Amino acid sequence: MRTHHCGELNHHHIGEKVILCGWVKKIRNLGNFLFLDIYDKHGLTQAFIDKEKQDEIFEKTQKLHLEDVLSIEGIVKEREDKNQKISTGEIEIIIKEITLLNSAKPFPFQLEQEGVNDDLLLKYRYLELRKSKLQENLKKRHQITQITRSFLSDEGFTEIETPILSKSTPEGARDFLVPSRISPAKFYALPQAPQAYKQLLMTSQIEKYFQIARCFRDEDLRADRQPEFTQIDIELSFPSLEEIFNLSEKLIKTLFQKVLGIKISTPFDRITYKEAMSKYGTDKPERRFSSTLYDVSEIFSQTKIRLFEETLKKGETIQAINAQGLGNTSNKNLKILSEIAINQGAGGLPFIKIQGKEWNSSLSKFLSEKEKEDLRKKLQLKDGDIILFSLGKWEKAVRILGKIRLRYAEIMKLIPQEAKEKTFDFIWITEFPLLSYDEEKKKWETLHHPFTRPRDKDIPKLMNGNLANIQSQAYDLVINGEEIGGGSLRIHEEKLQRAMFDALEINEEKQNSLFAHSLEALGYGTPPHGGIAFGLDRLIMILCNSSSIREVIAFPKNLKATDPMCSSPSKINEEQLQELQIFTQSNNGE
Ligand code: AMO
Repeated sequence: MRTHHCGELNHHHIGEKVILCGWVKKIRNLGNFLFLDIYDKHGLTQAFIDKEKQDEIFEKTQKLHLEDVLSIEGIVKEREDKNQKISTGEIEIIIKEITLLNSAKPFPFQLEQEGVNDDLLLKYRYLELRKSKLQENLKKRHQITQITRSFLSDEGFTEIETPILSKSTPEGARDFLVPSRISPAKFYALPQAPQAYKQLLMTSQIEKYFQIARCFRDEDLRADRQPEFTQIDIELSFPSLEEIFNLSEKLIKTLFQKVLGIKISTPFDRITYKEAMSKYGTDKPERRFSSTLYDVSEIFSQTKIRLFEETLKKGETIQAINAQGLGNTSNKNLKILSEIAINQGAGGLPFIKIQGKEWNSSLSKFLSEKEKEDLRKKLQLKDGDIILFSLGKWEKAVRILGKIRLRYAEIMKLIPQEAKEKTFDFIWITEFPLLSYDEEKKKWETLHHPFTRPRDKDIPKLMNGNLANIQSQAYDLVINGEEIGGGSLRIHEEKLQRAMFDALEINEEKQNSLFAHSLEALGYGTPPHGGIAFGLDRLIMILCNSSSIREVIAFPKNLKATDPMCSSPSKINEEQLQELQIFTQSNNGE
């Protein structure tokens, strides 16, 4: 329909007859002349109409609306008033014919407009996707997926699709279920990840598998979580941990090089789960600012502060962080941080403000000179700093302070916003515990999933049901405080897998009903295997320097997991429900 696109014409085309298709960006009516800017995804071209010479076209153009879609035919002419800022700024089109291809209603929002309600944007997502940043993101997504496919193919991996209508796998979230019409009262589960299938493919001697896999998890949503998302899912036979780390680093390095032109250095740092939790209060540390957590229990061993004394007596800990410079900002910031502590289940947020020689706090009169000196040294205190404390059982105390640490960095704007070489921080988290004890549920739970292999020397412990302090052979990749990937070596022996299920209190009957196929397959010479899955959306978000995965997904859901555009989820008509043998109060006559 067109000879050129709207970003293409320049002085080389002067005198040529051309046809352009695009949308109305602007109409400037100067009485006797009219300028029409027409645009498409490649750029913008100015067209010109002289009322005297082309009265009919002039009239027609006057009536156009912004975003109407047109075709114009005309001759390229050199512009008198050149515009250096755009690629077509040297020329304009003298219109000979104009055809309205489709008209546009007024938009529900302007594309450049800030502060538009999120649900309105999602309702008209097909319009929002016209924004250049979103267009760039989708293009980058395509590029990243292509690079990943060709990288893994070159490394000898075979891409294999696994079922979407599948069976529940325990990845830690709720399943989305799909009722079966043919088998009434039975349900498929949408895969939370292709974990079970990719392990079965190792039994099938596929040896090196990958998939750009859609995953579905019914969990609470956040900026980095969607109910359906995509993984780069990888599994290989006979791997060492080093082989998986090397392969992953090579993939990430290739992506950063090809997409951003940034050379990142490998190998990535590795820190243990314990170190990550002790220093950052999280297993996905943001290390691009320096404040870290300190265990100050020792300093307070002789404390006169009643609350601290009681904490230590119970065998719990006192954790502290130096919020550098926070004392020089408004007091409301301290209030924000204290609300976080309380929301996370702390009794409050004890603090000490350092102001010159003064230690301002309700606690300071109970501090000895020695305690002050020790705190000063350990936390490198300066004027304007505030010490924030978190008390309690180690894990809870560090987790709360970890959250406060991040909010403090946000308040003080300590986290770099631009995407430059030195603003990317890559870390492997290693040596995770295999299991953690859930005090509320009074049972052991996995930190990854039940197919994760314990380290060799802890295998007897798992086999004997001695479940404390078992280390796993799992790892997570963290970039800039985001968990980008996770994986492990797997259990490949039926007995060990059953011991793991026993540890999780999945009884034999359930083992046989939920995992019969997986357990049976292990008995047919399943090789040692392991793998990893990267959150593709999160990786793209980082490569696009976006703050939410919604910006890199064409049609995301809102925070309530609904899609305001096509109103899904939606009610199903009675007939369909009955066909599926799903009875509600209204359709079974109750
Ligand atoms: P895991 O559950 O850690 O591991 O998931 C792997 C990666 O997927 C991304 N991710 C998500 N991204 C967007 N929205 C979500 N709701 C979401 N949930 C997870 C994260 C995460 O690191 N089968 C195992 C992998 C393995 O063991 O090989 C698994 O799924 O970036």
